[in-house]
Amino acid sequence: MKALMLSGGSGTRLRPITHTAAKQLVPIANKPILFYGLESLAAAGVAEVGVVVGRTKDEVMAAVGDGSAFNLKVVYIDQGEPRGLADTVLISRDFLGDDDFVMYLGDNFLLGGINDVVAAFSGRDSSVNAHILLAKVPDPSRFGVAIMDGKGRVTDLIEKPANPPSDLALVGVYLFDSSIHEAVRAIVPSARGELEITDAIAHLIKEGKTVNASMVDGYWKDLGEPEALLEGNRMALERMTTMILGEVAGSKIEGTVVVEAGASVIDSVIRGPAIVGAGTVVRSSYVGPFSSIGRHCRIEETEVANSIILDSAVVSQIAELEGSIIGRYAHVIKRASRPISNSIVVGDHSRLELI
Ligand code: G1P
Repeated sequence: MKALMLSGGSGTRLRPITHTAAKQLVPIANKPILFYGLESLAAAGVAEVGVVVGRTKDEVMAAVGDGSAFNLKVVYIDQGEPRGLADTVLISRDFLGDDDFVMYLGDNFLLGGINDVVAAFSGRDSSVNAHILLAKVPDPSRFGVAIMDGKGRVTDLIEKPANPPSDLALVGVYLFDSSIHEAVRAIVPSARGELEITDAIAHLIKEGKTVNASMVDGYWKDLGEPEALLEGNRMALERMTTMILGEVAGSKIEGTVVVEAGASVIDSVIRGPAIVGAGTVVRSSYVGPFSSIGRHCRIEETEVANSIILDSAVVSQIAELEGSIIGRYAHVIKRASRPISNSIVVGDHSRLELI
């Protein structure tokens, strides 16, 4: 079984972070979202992965390399512009050949991994052409949605329906045999101008192919927007175990906390689950539950919780920072001179909620 790992797209819902970074490389618990997916593929026994890249290809290629860090053999497939998920299958035809494959959306986070579903598909009866994973969601119109008959069979799929016929969303992990290649050639672009994998799977069903479905096992989230990213971060932090490799002086460490090698925590309180990245200095601060502080950051005289602070950011003398995502090299600091009013230099598509 091969895999297609999708790591293109423009990540508009995660702007401004994605103005300068690939959304799949945004970290949760200090590890890029994409790496969790690559690890799940390797754990499921997949060896060869085609990573589909787009405008952020340089960054993705630098981060993933030849895949050996994940025990994978990685090749890159350049999509150029985002033309849809089904288009990634079209352009990956040579890499995929006629093999079965898992298609994995690089911004999807599945805590339970994919071992069981990959094993079941590999050992299936050959009359099964595809397997999809579903999850009940409160907001189905933001996803591909499945319609099932009374016997638990999928009868149709609709991408982002205005009036969802069910609350069963398509999870971004799909298993296909070679019949998907004909389906992706048969469909036309959707209203958003993209070739939808949802339409290709619906086409398989219409052509009488067998598409099985099962409910996703455990926690799943599409981390494509800020609230979801913070939730995924909380879930990832909860799974860590304490590891203090950096320097801790005059500080209290409570709960599950990771202090990476080369980090310094001085005169501070860290209440886990939380992680402090290598080369970061936390001084006279409180780092509360569900905080991921990246590498080479400076956190001084600040209280932060439920937040993701990316590498090389500076947060200084901020009384309360909660539910925040701070980009690389961003400075969030107390104004040092009068007038004592907010002074902001903020990037395109940023969102600030000030008190
Ligand atoms: C894509 C798919 C959608 C699926 C979702 C899962 O949506 O088109 O069917 O439910 O991923 O994350 P997108 O993230 O492109 O809006």
